[in-house]
Amino acid sequence: MNAVINDVIDRRLSVAPMLDWTDRHCRFFHRLISDQVLLYTEMITTGALLNGDQEKLLGFSPSEEPVAIQLGGSNLDDLATCAKMAEDMGYSEVNLNVGCPSDRVQKGRFGACLMKEPDLVADCFAAMQKAVKIPVTIKSRIGVDDDDSFDSFERFVDTVSSAGCQTFVVHARKALLKGLSPKQNRSVPPLKYEYAYDIKSKNPNLNVVLNGGIETVEQAVEQLNHVDGVMVGRAFWNAPWLIRDMHNAMAMGEQKLTRDEVLLAYVDYCQHMVKQGLSLHWLIRPILGLYHGFPGNKKWKSHLVTEAPRRKDDVTVIKEARDWVTYAG
Ligand SMILES: Cc1cc2nc3c(=O)[nH]c(=O)nc-3n(C[C@H](O)[C@H](O)[C@H](O)COP(=O)(O)O)c2cc1C
Repeated sequence: MNAVINDVIDRRLSVAPMLDWTDRHCRFFHRLISDQVLLYTEMITTGALLNGDQEKLLGFSPSEEPVAIQLGGSNLDDLATCAKMAEDMGYSEVNLNVGCPSDRVQKGRFGACLMKEPDLVADCFAAMQKAVKIPVTIKSRIGVDDDDSFDSFERFVDTVSSAGCQTFVVHARKALLKGLSPKQNRSVPPLKYEYAYDIKSKNPNLNVVLNGGIETVEQAVEQLNHVDGVMVGRAFWNAPWLIRDMHNAMAMGEQKLTRDEVLLAYVDYCQHMVKQGLSLHWLIRPILGLYHGFPGNKKWKSHLVTEAPRRKDDVTVIKEARDWVTYAG
């Protein structure tokens, strides 16, 4: 393994990797809200990266940094090659997906089914970490199917950490590999935060980041009494300003932009992107929840979703939508 790994990443708060959601536009928007929150790409499979449009899959704007890339795969050479490509592109961390339960992913022998093969995950980690100086981390479940005891999860963590892995992001529910859709697998199996807490208390040297079901500032801050960080997915998508509220509650530093200034900066970004041929209809998705909870929120959203597909390159749609919201600040 490389002797020097540059791991100075603040992992107190991160936005979860979400396929089709946390693309570069979403990350650009989130970065306007917090200059500290750690951002993750959607899962990118090694197959897609090695055979597909690398610029499209890896490209991101420097203003999004720090960004962690999440890879899906289990072939050691492919993972090492992709990790190196990501490092060369400027990513700050490489994360391996050991949590996705979809059929497609299972067929490829990666994602959550790898929880049954801790030795292979350790080898994947070692192959990637040997190839790069940026930290390689693991995002896992706490078990799969009937293999869901704490002992089994601990064995998984021990095996992978013995290969040198220092950071585990734990989606604290097991995955059922048969019978549940990926969506159901994010809500049906119960959350067991104590698995993550116990791993941290038994291994104080590891970074343990807790994920799953965190929806409020209070919940997020409370977790920091037990683990090193929290990762939030759906709640940030539904109400992205929650990123700022958690950022502030965790004293992660003063932020310059107000909510409306964030929006204006994103409108400028959209202007730039539509000139490059992107459709506004895609670009508005991350901002739909920006005025969550304020009067006019429904009209804001419906204006965006009806007008943006019709006026694909007209960013004034966003400003018109803003006029529906009663909010000063
Ligand atoms: C639309 C969607 C796509 C997701 N895609 C990924 C993914 O690419 N990689 C991954 O590790 N997890 C993925 N997840 C799972 C989230 O990262 C996270 O573990 C899960 O939503 C639980 O966190 P939450 O309760 O805060 O949303 C996805 C979740 C959603 C809702």
